[in-house]
Amino acid sequence: MILVFAIMHDEGDMMHRDSYAIIDGEILKNNVKAIVKTYSNYEYYIGVVKNNAYHHGIYSVKELIAGGINYLAVSSLDEAIMVRKYYKNIPILCLEVIPLKWLDDVIKYNITITVDCLSYLKKLLTLSGSSVIKVHLAVDTGMHRLGFDNKKELTEAFYDLKNSKSFYLEGIFTHFATSGVQDPYYDRQVNRFLKLTQDIYLEEIPIVHLGRSLTMVQHEKLNFCNGIRVGIAMYGFNQSRVLNINLKGKYNLWKMRKKQKKYQCSPTKLENSLNVKPAFALYSKIMSRRKIKINDFAGYNASYIAKKDGYIYTLPIGFADGVDKSFGYVLIGNEKCKIVADCMDMILIFSQNKYEIGKEVEIFGKKRSILEVCRFLDQNAYHLLNQISFRVARIHKNNKEEKEILY
Ligand SMILES: Cc1ncc(COP(=O)(O)O)c(C=O)c1O
Repeated sequence: MILVFAIMHDEGDMMHRDSYAIIDGEILKNNVKAIVKTYSNYEYYIGVVKNNAYHHGIYSVKELIAGGINYLAVSSLDEAIMVRKYYKNIPILCLEVIPLKWLDDVIKYNITITVDCLSYLKKLLTLSGSSVIKVHLAVDTGMHRLGFDNKKELTEAFYDLKNSKSFYLEGIFTHFATSGVQDPYYDRQVNRFLKLTQDIYLEEIPIVHLGRSLTMVQHEKLNFCNGIRVGIAMYGFNQSRVLNINLKGKYNLWKMRKKQKKYQCSPTKLENSLNVKPAFALYSKIMSRRKIKINDFAGYNASYIAKKDGYIYTLPIGFADGVDKSFGYVLIGNEKCKIVADCMDMILIFSQNKYEIGKEVEIFGKKRSILEVCRFLDQNAYHLLNQISFRVARIHKNNKEEKEILY
């Protein structure tokens, strides 16, 4: 029995649809604790909470902070403002470059900004507000997405900021394009970072953060870094490469090691025992039941022809919510029921057993793990989590409470 309260929004805003994600706050908190304990030599654990904390909901951020996250990172100014509304004190870095026309909001909401090139910085320096703005310099070491890729310009930016009274150079970072466990790019990017920053004093910049979850679990901490940006690991995916070591796994491992030799990769760890668990489970409830006879059809384009007599159950969740036929099946109790048709808002499942309207159906969670669904879909956890839309209610639970959340 789920107790649902409205939080952070009015009672009337609560969702009225029997499809919901259960977000386990205790798990999130313990995941961060495990990260901080296992990789204890960082000073700054920058929790990446973009896109509503990878769709776990902004309310989950409180669990991440309770676990040990001491800085947050988001994509856009809009996300930063949304997070700031609920978390007043923690610093928030916006990873995208913010157009300068919105600098007033940067100041108002106390957001740390990313500076990615000299021309942007020069314009920024002509502006000033009522308080000092914190800046992190982005360095492009090969991803070709954002950042300084010229040593002279980066050096000039460093000194410009050092001499500024309105802007404070608090951080510097890059982003890795690959894990670098079987390719030369991680090492190349680290070397490029060192080259580009040769003429500045890294030790004078309070936060140096190069890596993300994969970097943290697969590479030794770089001695000039004191920060790490963690996203997917906090949400329960440790990305160990040596999970199910069957014959195919062993072959893949052998191939990886061969490539490591070929590219002379710096030491990497393919396996890790970071004890994190997914905190996101997805459920729906039977909305409608009808009998179907053998050879009768169901769904658009009559795409399903029943092979046996049984029941079609309709669930209020569809591809607009991120769930479709490709998931294969859902669970009613222990029974795997095939998804036989999908629509924008509903899916149809088949069973020969009779179930009552309102019975809970697991899409993924306890009996079918999200990891198994990822493997089944040949999709990574980033995509799967982010595709479950906010039309699906989020129920946040921890030891003390169980609440419906809006974001
Ligand atoms: C710049 C940057 N840093 C860190 C992350 C977090 O990555 P991960 O979820 O792999 O830890 C992201 C995620 O997209 C990112 O764009």
